[in-house]
Amino acid sequence: MKKLFERPDDRDAVEADCWKLLHHAVEANDCGWRLPVLATVDNGACRQRIVVLRSVDAATRTILAHTDIRSAKVSALKNGATASWLFYDASLKVQMQFVGHTQIHHHDRLSQQLWDQQPLSSLRGYLAPLPPGTRCETAEVNLPANVRDRVPDATELAAAKQNFAAISCVASSIEWLLLRPSGNLRLKVRYDADGSRTIDWLAP
Ligand SMILES: Cc1cc2nc3c(=O)[nH]c(=O)nc-3n(C[C@H](O)[C@H](O)[C@H](O)COP(=O)(O)O)c2cc1C
Repeated sequence: MKKLFERPDDRDAVEADCWKLLHHAVEANDCGWRLPVLATVDNGACRQRIVVLRSVDAATRTILAHTDIRSAKVSALKNGATASWLFYDASLKVQMQFVGHTQIHHHDRLSQQLWDQQPLSSLRGYLAPLPPGTRCETAEVNLPANVRDRVPDATELAAAKQNFAAISCVASSIEWLLLRPSGNLRLKVRYDADGSRTIDWLAP
């Protein structure tokens, strides 16, 4: 991977490198940006959790994660609510706060396509009999007993598809922070509905 953020004083280069790093993170297990913290607000209560960054489309400024349709984050993201995603890469010392409008994909063409592309091993969790977050009397792995020690086959997984969903999020802003010994740098990009963007330096 070509080095990123080598021109940290160039606002356009910084923005472009943010999208390059997001792209890279989808495939790179060792990249910190692969596991962002997704924050939502539900009835005034803020909640955060780690998710896996699954896809990135710089042209439409969209990022995407997979989840269980029964999870609390989905209820918090009804009706196109905004979400904030926090990324940090310790090797580059770069933080990014990504804010945007979300859409839940469930039983639609995109969710079907994503489901078909996943290795069977990453779909087992969607067989969970209990909705995530259900209170349990004893320690509970929330998997059917017959698949606890193995990867289910495609037939067994058919029942899990109803629980599978994707959260897509179109950026309304990204905020970048670079930590460096000679002084930190901070920049905010705002994306407007008409496709234009504004980039401002901020005091770190
Ligand atoms: C490394 C890691 C990766 C995770 N990836 C996902 C993910 O891609 N999607 C997801 O829904 N939950 C993922 N989780 C679990 C969430 O952090 C969270 O516990 C779960 O989704 C329930 O969140 P909620 O009740 O706030 O909806 C991951 C957790 C860890 C530690």
